[in-house]
Amino acid sequence: MNLCVIGTGYVGLVTGTVFADLGNKVICCDKDESKIRMLQEGKMPIYEPGLEEMVEKNVLDGRLVFSTDIANAVRESETIFIAVGTPPGSDGFADLSAVESVAKIIAQNLNDYKVIVNKSTVPVGTGDFVREVVEKNKSNGVSFDVVSNPEFLREGSAINDTLYPDRIVIGAPSNNVAMRILELYAPLERPMIITDVYSAEMIKYASNAFLSTKISFINAIACICEAVGADVIQVAKGMGYDKRIGADFLQAGLGYGGSCFGKDNSCLVQTAKKYGYNFELLQSVIDINNEQPKRFVDKIRNVLGSLKDKKIGILGLAFKPNTDDLRDAKSLEIIPQLLADGAEVSAYDPIAMDNTHKVFPNIKYCNNAYDAAKDVDALLLVTEWNEFKFLDLARVKEIMRKPIIFDGRNLYDPSSMRKLGFDYYPIGRPPVICSNKETE
Ligand code: UGA
Repeated sequence: MNLCVIGTGYVGLVTGTVFADLGNKVICCDKDESKIRMLQEGKMPIYEPGLEEMVEKNVLDGRLVFSTDIANAVRESETIFIAVGTPPGSDGFADLSAVESVAKIIAQNLNDYKVIVNKSTVPVGTGDFVREVVEKNKSNGVSFDVVSNPEFLREGSAINDTLYPDRIVIGAPSNNVAMRILELYAPLERPMIITDVYSAEMIKYASNAFLSTKISFINAIACICEAVGADVIQVAKGMGYDKRIGADFLQAGLGYGGSCFGKDNSCLVQTAKKYGYNFELLQSVIDINNEQPKRFVDKIRNVLGSLKDKKIGILGLAFKPNTDDLRDAKSLEIIPQLLADGAEVSAYDPIAMDNTHKVFPNIKYCNNAYDAAKDVDALLLVTEWNEFKFLDLARVKEIMRKPIIFDGRNLYDPSSMRKLGFDYYPIGRPPVICSNKETE
């Protein structure tokens, strides 16, 4: 099938590349010339494991091209995927201006029947909105349909998630239209749900809201665990074995970040409000999430006392491992609080330091985790990169000024930390205090 994907962010670029890999002819387009130039030169504008190789292969095989000529891409394609950004607007809703301008270009280039697919995360009713914009701006009688096909890929595992999705959701106005999209996904042999457009749009928001709820729920339980002396890892394990609950997304920590959960939750709260429902449950999920980094810094203050002139090392800056994405990263909330208290910050992240440098030009960036730990009064684990799991912690202890670790992601094993002689403060687990013993 001849396709085009408009928007070369995480969703657009990965979706387009995977469709090409499945044998379709795909034009990935974007109005951002520098991005398209990079892609034409074989350079990736985002870090995503496995993407570069898959792009290269499909470009060489002639199935994948990159272009800024969106009008031409629309004319050449039977099916058009809209995968442009829908950033949060000031009113909490998603800003649909990019979707609207793409819909206008599609309208002006409607040379044949086309299926227009909303792939971006868009509020319920956006299918109708796209249909109206295209109807209003087209200059001929050519017909078209609008489908909702939300994306569930995660950053850092986007290729794998697209090749092996848990489900594929197709919201279409009729079965015939749904079949065209179903055909595209058929080679993946994954479960498919064919439904109406509103329900498909809602499935996306409800899924992200539910995942966020699991995270905030376990973080709330972690707070109570800390107060009563229970261990949230054991609690989550005990809960997760129940198939009705499931073990995923029950990792207590600094809270969820990234470009999706925060934005989508506030959009769903606002959508509910618009239709007269006060979604207090989801608002609490958001509030709990906002509290987590503050509680973390308060814990550091309680243990270290004044942070003025204290040296603090940070491991991990990205919003989660395997990405250089800083959007809504907890480091962006924690670092300013430390700096405001007068602390000196040194930081290391395997790939997100360039992006962080743009936000905090004046903190110290280190070549590796050991440099970040050198001479510090405390080390904070903010993003659980795999390489931090395998640090030589005896060496880390040796080079720190004081052996105190605040683990925001529960990466380390408390009993090993005790053996090594650290003061260790995880989330929702009893802390390990060795320094008192030494002075006893
Ligand atoms: C999320 C969803 O998982 C995807 O299904 C969805 O397609 C995507 O949003 C989107 O709407 O575009 P993503 O934001 O890439 O994907 O990242 P996740 O892996 O879901 O992690 C989100 C945040 O939750 C991260 O900050 C992570 O550290 C945190 N998290 C995750 C926890 O704190 N605890 C957990 O148990 C799991």
